[in-house]
Amino acid sequence: MPTKITVVGAGHVGATTAQRIAELGIANEVALIDIIEGMPKGKALDLWEAAPVLGYDTRLAGGTEYGMIDGSDIVIVTAGLPRKPGMSRDDLLKKNTEIVQGVAREIEARCPGAIVLVVSNPLDVMSYVMLKTTGFDRKRVIGMAGVLDTARFRSFIALELDVSVRDVSAFVLGGHGDSMVPLPRYSTVAGIPLPHLLSEERIEALVDRTRKGGGEIVELLGSGSAFYAPSAAVVEMAEAIIRNRNRILPCAAWLQGEYGLSDVFVGVPVKLGVGGIKEIVEIELTGEEKKALHASAAHVKETMSKLDL
Ligand code: NAI
Ligand code: 2OP
Repeated sequence: MPTKITVVGAGHVGATTAQRIAELGIANEVALIDIIEGMPKGKALDLWEAAPVLGYDTRLAGGTEYGMIDGSDIVIVTAGLPRKPGMSRDDLLKKNTEIVQGVAREIEARCPGAIVLVVSNPLDVMSYVMLKTTGFDRKRVIGMAGVLDTARFRSFIALELDVSVRDVSAFVLGGHGDSMVPLPRYSTVAGIPLPHLLSEERIEALVDRTRKGGGEIVELLGSGSAFYAPSAAVVEMAEAIIRNRNRILPCAAWLQGEYGLSDVFVGVPVKLGVGGIKEIVEIELTGEEKKALHASAAHVKETMSKLDL
């Protein structure tokens, strides 16, 4: 069956996401939506003009009209304002809530069967805004953060040990923010747990760099925030769903008792395949890890409490 993916927000993350979808060939159709006249249409056309060189058949169309999202199987929401230097993710709260609410209403009205992948920040709270506004089942509203945070952790581990990233697998739980919970003992290199390979101090340094990974890129860019790794991360999630891969990926999911947490979006391992989240995977945590996860969830809840939905 033909697959259609809509990407809302044709900025850095959105346009790169559309590019990756086309180059990977995971959708027949991509709609790129933004509020800026001309820009999404121009980017979609530019991407389509690359098709003969790269050999993809994904049809891309861009515009400002929400009619374009009709019939989407997956909607990836990147609309919003990015962080600026010195700005926390929570500073974005008010503006991005209004934006995500507006997008959610269009999704609910126009493609009520779609799976929504939320990227806009603050991620865990914007996922809540999407869930609450669309009224969709929790299996179909999923936040992207854990795949990115885990990728950052993996990339730093690979640099530290001078090994291929392909042999590094890592685990990061919790909210997308400074309170995220990287789990070194569930992170491995070719199956060898990280604590067998690196000292506690070195692991802590990598964990710290992972927690601050988004901010590190913001400072370096000077304007805007990361988009190559974030787009790769959300496309990995979309691919898992479209190809029914049953991938176990860390995603922000609406918890209902799992890990002792309820009514909050937090990054946990989920099984992703057709229909969205097939299962929330519960792993055993030490007392300290559980405490860190609950503290991270409390931070998300505190931000949620500032909303008037
Ligand atoms: P950007 O500024 O390059 O693009 C955002 C786009 O959204 C702009 O083109 C803007 O015109 C558009 N937009 C604003 N309101 C809209 C609306 N109502 N409908 C449609 N489009 C609208 O920003 P960038 O770098 O693409 O980041 C997008 C969002 O993703 C930000 O909130 C950022 O913080 C977040 N982000 C989240 C990550 C994560 O791990 N979850 C990683 C990277 C970015
Ligand atoms: C990041 O982690 C800005 O949340 C975004 O890069």
